[in-house]
Amino acid sequence: MIIADKKKIIKNQVIDLNKKDLKTNEELYNKDNYKEHSVSKKEMNSSNNNSEEIIIKNENENENEIIQEYVPKISSKIKILITGGTGLVGHALQKIIDISKYEPIFLSSKDCNLCDYEDTYQLFKNIHPTYVIHLAASVGGLFKNMNQKVSMYEDNTLINLNVLKCCHQFSVSKVISCLSTCIFPDKTSYPINETMLHNGPPHTSNDAYAYAKRMLEVHSKAYQEQYDSNFICVIPTNIYGDHDNYSLEDGHVIPSLIHKCYNSIQNNEDFVVRGTGKPLRQFIHSLDLAKLMLWSLESYEKKDPIILSVDPEDEVSIESIATIIAKTYDYEDRLVFDDSFSDGQFKKTADNTLLRSYLPDYEFIKIEDGLSKTIQWFIDNYDHVRK
Ligand SMILES: NC(=O)c1ccc[n+]([C@@H]2O[C@H](COP(=O)([O-])OP(=O)(O)OC[C@H]3O[C@@H](n4cnc5c(N)ncnc54)[C@H](OP(=O)(O)O)[C@@H]3O)[C@@H](O)[C@H]2O)c1
Repeated sequence: MIIADKKKIIKNQVIDLNKKDLKTNEELYNKDNYKEHSVSKKEMNSSNNNSEEIIIKNENENENEIIQEYVPKISSKIKILITGGTGLVGHALQKIIDISKYEPIFLSSKDCNLCDYEDTYQLFKNIHPTYVIHLAASVGGLFKNMNQKVSMYEDNTLINLNVLKCCHQFSVSKVISCLSTCIFPDKTSYPINETMLHNGPPHTSNDAYAYAKRMLEVHSKAYQEQYDSNFICVIPTNIYGDHDNYSLEDGHVIPSLIHKCYNSIQNNEDFVVRGTGKPLRQFIHSLDLAKLMLWSLESYEKKDPIILSVDPEDEVSIESIATIIAKTYDYEDRLVFDDSFSDGQFKKTADNTLLRSYLPDYEFIKIEDGLSKTIQWFIDNYDHVRK
């Protein structure tokens, strides 16, 4: 514990927290304080990992009054807050982030409820991140989007509002926020590109989620225009990988089918896929997306949103996905399509020309390889997965 003069501290250290340039922060944070996994709320509130408790005498006030503040130690790493750090994409970032360069904090809803402004403010006050990768969202498949519209709208709006507001208040140098290609207009021409985001209403099945996400883009742009903030949005297509939500009701198509086929085998039933299987989709593995998000943070210097997707030629049918899953489980003979269920949109082809103009040779994980690894992960972790 150090006793110090407030003016001196403010002059030498506290004000530095708000400086935007990385060198300042590199000097501020302590190397030994890296935490690979999420930090608990208790830990954050009780003792800031990157701070040394300091008691400050305030010269201008009553001599006896003691003000407690926290002052960061020196570090060569860049502090990065990953909201939604315990989800599908968050786990992929945990795997690949360069910890010799970054000091990441992977946040879960248990650490901080981002729907609550006070909680969010306190989190930023304690962490003072240089960068934020904003993944946290209430996410779900068709069923959740259709049946929980109020919470899909309110939760996502509040989370995004609080996160961006605090990023501004705490002078975060760059924010990468996650939209989704499923928020694009329902009636549109294909392939869809970044400029078409607001050109018409989204599909009614997910309009509440989609409008909340679209406002994240509007909000980011408002900060760019009014404060020159470096608040950028990326737009991924359908994501899959380890640590997904494998719920049969709330999950996306790939994790739900992986779980469904597993259950079909356990119950010795047909593996029934709803719809004709004809619709086409682009799928990106969570590890590819994590790499591209870090690339966006470090190297993408424009402020316009950018689609992060495999190429339009890599679009695959739901039938192909179901077949690969069934083959991987060696259950292909029992695969059937129930065309009494609707197919949804036939295709939603996203144009990744902008991404390819920067990374023409980037090789995405092939869907066959990604799927077989994901299925193996699901089987190995069956008892613990979200389902
Ligand atoms: N999955 C896809 O196919 C897909 C496609 C396009 C775009 N996206 C976007 O990509 C981003 C990441 O998606 P994902 O699939 O990784 O999501 P996910 O697996 O469902 O994870 C969601 C994350 O958000 C956190 N979270 C939810 N509500 C919160 C709250 N109130 N306060 C704090 N944290 C909260 C969760 O914490 P807990 O673990 O504690 O619940 C979890 O870490 C999202 O913005 C999503 O919209 C996803």
